[in-house]
Amino acid sequence: MLTAMYLLSPILTVVVAILIPTVVLVMYYYQRRSSSAYRDSRDLLTDINSVMSESIQGMSLIQLMGQEQRFSERFASLTDLHFSTEVKIVKINGIFLRPLIDLLSGMALLSLAAIFGWTGSEVIGVGVLYAFISYLGRVTEPLIELMQRLSLLQQAIMAGERLFELMDAKAHEYGDDDRALASGDIAINSLHFSYDGKTKVLNDINVEVKEGEFLALVGHTGSGKSTLASLLMGFYPVQTGEIALGGRALSSFTQRALRSGIAMVQQDPHVLSDTFRENVTLGRQVSDEQVWEALERVDLADYVNQLPSKLETPIGVGEIALSAGQKQLLALARVLVEKPKILILDEATANIDSGTEERVQKALAALRQSMTIVVIAHRLSTIADADHIMVLHHGNVEEQGNHQALLAQKGRYWQMYQLQQTRAHLEEIEHACAESDQSSVTSSSLTE
Ligand SMILES: Nc1ncnc2c1ncn2[C@@H]1O[C@H](COP(=O)(O)OP(=O)(O)OP(=O)(O)O)[C@@H](O)[C@H]1O
Ligand SMILES: [Mg+2]
Repeated sequence: MLTAMYLLSPILTVVVAILIPTVVLVMYYYQRRSSSAYRDSRDLLTDINSVMSESIQGMSLIQLMGQEQRFSERFASLTDLHFSTEVKIVKINGIFLRPLIDLLSGMALLSLAAIFGWTGSEVIGVGVLYAFISYLGRVTEPLIELMQRLSLLQQAIMAGERLFELMDAKAHEYGDDDRALASGDIAINSLHFSYDGKTKVLNDINVEVKEGEFLALVGHTGSGKSTLASLLMGFYPVQTGEIALGGRALSSFTQRALRSGIAMVQQDPHVLSDTFRENVTLGRQVSDEQVWEALERVDLADYVNQLPSKLETPIGVGEIALSAGQKQLLALARVLVEKPKILILDEATANIDSGTEERVQKALAALRQSMTIVVIAHRLSTIADADHIMVLHHGNVEEQGNHQALLAQKGRYWQMYQLQQTRAHLEEIEHACAESDQSSVTSSSLTE
């Protein structure tokens, strides 16, 4: 277009050409103004979404603490802010996109007409002016298109920034040794660990467990038990020291070999909103017999049998929600359908009544010959027959040995055990007192 214009009239072309750098300037300025507004808008949208999902997931907590008002105010203030940011974006777009370019091209048109009037009709013919006006439209139209695309690009860049942050995060690295775990031996050598690189969570852990043995981890809340379990599972890379499973370094295993060799029942198991069967098999090739066998082992078979469509019953959402104890039993069933070489139980029976727990313990005891079991428990009575007990305190191994040896040491384990024994004893006495009170009340009311 510019070449054609130049051939027709160099003077008028100069007027039109001034338009182009002006538009570039406007574009640059628009980008600077709008990118911060777009970023704010994206950030606010994220906050709105997280407050919304937090409010729905934590509904019972919000109601329990009477926080409805505060949460709805927080939500309202965020949506108000988002609204005003969006208005700001609309204003910026309203000024900079079409209207400003239109204004500029209008001005160019006026200048053309003025020059035309000034220089007189001998210099520039009416036909040339007409050609210029139509050419001008063809130059500015793409510029306007460009500006509008720029606004889309701006949004995409802001959204992309956030996505790339996530996509560029370092992926967990596994080794390339795909051989299955040969034995359940665990060897931990001078292991140190910290989540943030500053606070030490585990300090110089050394332990050796042979296949078929029973290792128990005890210690106060926050002493690092679950962290040690996560490291054994390979959830975090080992920073200093080493962990070997079945005689091979943990880092050498492929993801598949590691996950089929070692399994864990976590403190707060997650239930998928899917059928009961899918929640046990989790996509693995497992027959129904195996599923039932596992459910039988963890004492859930009777419960599933009375569900409307048995294994096909959807759980997680809707009418059927599992209790905390049932969730733990389900999590146990998950790991028992495919027998791992090493099984880690993190407070896996904490929410289960003592009757059921006893049955689960029996099922686990039957499995003990074929796998190594690592148990994290607060109730010391459940780990009294462990081959090896490790007492953690602020990430340090304070004592280790078996139940008898640790009691004989009269250290922290002994203290914890004494406390629990005393409490159990007191509870028994209280129970007995309450019963005798009740019987005396009924006998006195009978005599009355
Ligand atoms: N993902 C994490 N990021 C940062 N710090 C963490 C993380 N998980 C745990 N911690 C910290 O590490 C320490 C040990 O936590 P850990 O969960 O291992 O304790 P625990 O012994 O399992 O306690 P509990 O008996 O309550 O389950 C705690 O101080 C905790 O705050
Ligand atoms: Mg824990």
